[in-house]
Amino acid sequence: MFREATTPSPTIYRHDYQAPAFWIDTVDLTFDLDPAKTRVLNKMTLRRNPDVPAQPLRLDGEELNLARVLVNGQGTSFKLEGDQLVLENLPEGADPIALEIFTTCNPSKNTELMGLYTSEGGFFTQCEAQGFRRITYFLDRPDVMATYKVTLRAEKKAYPVLLSNGNLLEQGDLEDGRHFAVWHDPFRKPSYLFALVAAPLVAREQRIVSRGGKEHLLQVFVRPGDLDKTEHAMQALLQSIAWDEARFGLALDLERFMIVATSDFNAGAMENKGLNIFNTKYVLAKPSTATDDDYDGITSVIGHEYFHNWTGNRITCRDWFQLSLKEGLTVFRDQEFSEDLAGSPSARAVCRIGNVRGLRAVQFSEDSGPMAHPVRPDQYQEIANFYTATVYEKGAEVVRMYQTLVGRDGFRKGMDLYFQRHDGQAVTCDDFAQAMADANPDSALAAQLEVFKRWYSQAGTPVLHASGSYDAAAQTYTLTLRQSCPATPGQPAKQPFLIPVRMGLIGRDGQALPLQLQGDTGTPLLERVLVLHDTEASFTFADIPEAPVPSLLRQFSAPVWLELQGEDEAAQLHRLAHDSDAFNRWEAAQRLMMAQAVSAVQASEMPAQVLNASTLDALRAVLRNPALDAAFKQLVLTLPDELEIAEELDSVDPQRIKMVSEALCQQVAHALAEDWLSLYEAHENTGAYVPEPVSAGRRALANLALENLCRIARDSGDVVWPGKAYQRFKDASNMTDRMGALRALLEGQSVLAQPALERFHALFQDEALVLDKWFRLQATRNDLDGKVLGQVRALLQHKDFHLSNPNRVRSLITAFCHANPGAFHRADAAGYVFWADQVLALDGINAQIAARLARAMDHWKRLAEPYRSAAGEAIRRVAAKPDLSADVREVVSRALQ
Ligand code: PHE
Ligand code: ZN
Repeated sequence: MFREATTPSPTIYRHDYQAPAFWIDTVDLTFDLDPAKTRVLNKMTLRRNPDVPAQPLRLDGEELNLARVLVNGQGTSFKLEGDQLVLENLPEGADPIALEIFTTCNPSKNTELMGLYTSEGGFFTQCEAQGFRRITYFLDRPDVMATYKVTLRAEKKAYPVLLSNGNLLEQGDLEDGRHFAVWHDPFRKPSYLFALVAAPLVAREQRIVSRGGKEHLLQVFVRPGDLDKTEHAMQALLQSIAWDEARFGLALDLERFMIVATSDFNAGAMENKGLNIFNTKYVLAKPSTATDDDYDGITSVIGHEYFHNWTGNRITCRDWFQLSLKEGLTVFRDQEFSEDLAGSPSARAVCRIGNVRGLRAVQFSEDSGPMAHPVRPDQYQEIANFYTATVYEKGAEVVRMYQTLVGRDGFRKGMDLYFQRHDGQAVTCDDFAQAMADANPDSALAAQLEVFKRWYSQAGTPVLHASGSYDAAAQTYTLTLRQSCPATPGQPAKQPFLIPVRMGLIGRDGQALPLQLQGDTGTPLLERVLVLHDTEASFTFADIPEAPVPSLLRQFSAPVWLELQGEDEAAQLHRLAHDSDAFNRWEAAQRLMMAQAVSAVQASEMPAQVLNASTLDALRAVLRNPALDAAFKQLVLTLPDELEIAEELDSVDPQRIKMVSEALCQQVAHALAEDWLSLYEAHENTGAYVPEPVSAGRRALANLALENLCRIARDSGDVVWPGKAYQRFKDASNMTDRMGALRALLEGQSVLAQPALERFHALFQDEALVLDKWFRLQATRNDLDGKVLGQVRALLQHKDFHLSNPNRVRSLITAFCHANPGAFHRADAAGYVFWADQVLALDGINAQIAARLARAMDHWKRLAEPYRSAAGEAIRRVAAKPDLSADVREVVSRALQ
């Protein structure tokens, strides 16, 4: 499919929103499915929107061949203007209008995977955000909601399963070996929630009766060989249904809920009404092929898509600028779901730490680069570029702050009011905020709603500067909080944010001090939430008997950078040893290590040791503390990585950072050698595999210990530990242990790494998702000798590598460019040449995947020389291609601005 070499796509602005000139009430679609030429008959009834001045009907369409247009059964005049079908002479005053459009399209040539496409002998659709217009001409915008009836016709043998949204009305055989199915979705929905599937699939099924006594059929459709990997997905779906009823009173509203897995998919999964379509990565799992992280990912994505049925589908977005209305809220819901499933306070903290790490790694980084945008963006060229960590993960933090401000019960009241007001509507982020505030009229949220809403309008990560002073004579402790926020593209100056700061004070003996704000009379609390809504505020606590150590931003109560002014190492060590908040305990260790890593990077000469003795002692104490569980220990001992260190620096020398990171890893391996040994021995045997938090924590810690033991062996020339790792790799009964052992061999630069990789491939050559791991491991391996780029290039030629499969591209190319900075940023610029070549090659196949890869250069302006000049040259080479997709064009032109 060729794009014209024209001027860049126009910018769309949030403030230009206008209601549609027509409503579409019903849609009756008939598909004659054929890979090369699918025929689509679209019969709709339309009505003029009386609130909008009369104007022609403009329908969106892309890559369609138009055969016929009828209005009320008659031929009509029409124009094709760019991608739009324009009807100027619709009959006056005769609503509803019956419009019939007949088009064809070519699913087998659809490598963008938007609209109707073929994959592994089946038909699938992806319509969010603007894929429906690649199926038929339509008002392809989320505020136009219609009821759909869908007839599918296809060859029966090749496509035995025919699915669409809603309920199955009828199915049967046709002549010539074809068959049909008719589906009807009783709920009005925007076109982006339409879906169909026609493929040779089988289903795991489960019938349930919900609390209200209604019967439902749940189905998970996969390829026949994959049925043994669907148990966990079904389990997660059952848990999701129960959780949404229990926590939010939201019940399944459909007779049937279907999940379909496909291996060609641009994203993780899609919440089409009643017919969720998933990347196989988030459905398929069995112990021998999936890791603990994979199991967790499945639980949260199944939850996420299921929760969209209410937050996204029943109440949808008015326009795409409101995307976080459904995504931020639904990510928050899936995070709460995963935490509730995890159970124990400590397992919940482990969940939270994982989410915050992800947020900081991706979203904070996005917020400090050329693609920075508010949670509710003001403009875009290509909406697909705005399915970002900011809209999703920061959006989820914004929703979490409502809950922090109004409490769990208050949040539930706000949700209830939101549904009471808006069920069945397409609404805005403001509508959600208003419901939360109105349901909690006495809260800090309601008092400062306009200030709170700046989280939606202002980009950038605020910095919270905190300083404390103790007055021994008055027995008071005064905490001063001040905020600032760096400029972001288009937003040079910011107004203050409303920042909830969950906090406590820790006494010298490690005990929490009771908190009584001066002038306050209530019972003292051990923890409270301070609210900063100005540039600066001070809070004085009375009856504080000694200088305390503050613990601020507990549970990461706001998405900000925290700067603790004048705080010494002793205070951090005190928090690491005593904080009652597990998140802040972990955070204390991270800060200690990060500060020392950063000074090692900045030192004129590379220091012999990165960490000082007191930090190492503290880490050792964590490992030896019997009261802490394995998962938490593993997280504390997960060292700041190269990308995290780079994020702290104004001028980034990736090779210098790599050296420091490497030195840090080796130092921790050697300094804690005895502990790695005993931890490995204590945790190596995790018994029969069950994907649950306690044993997963033990596996994670055993794998970390093994990796460190292999790192030690690398320096000492010892062959025993690599040998043990190889044995463990061979004998592993589950993928978590197998991958852990393989990674240990790679990190230890063992000669056994290569044979292990080969064996891994031989064992799993028929398991696509495991092959993805195999490619990713090699793309992200520690590059001590500068050979990884060459290996990645060679892997592009591997028989199992396909540029048209997004999972494969992400595993090899995207992983290398985004997640292996030490290998990617080469002084000879070869990494950047590779990047440009791959972006250009992919852009002709799948623009969304190309644009994601393009973002590996977001931070090029912060690179030191010679990296910066070479990176700039590579970006300009991409930008110079005349027929670049809108997706990649937007990313590279922002980078160059
Ligand atoms: N709406 C999907 C989700 O968040 C994500 C998605 C966006 C999938 C665009 C495909 C295309 O669950
Ligand atoms: Zn979503």
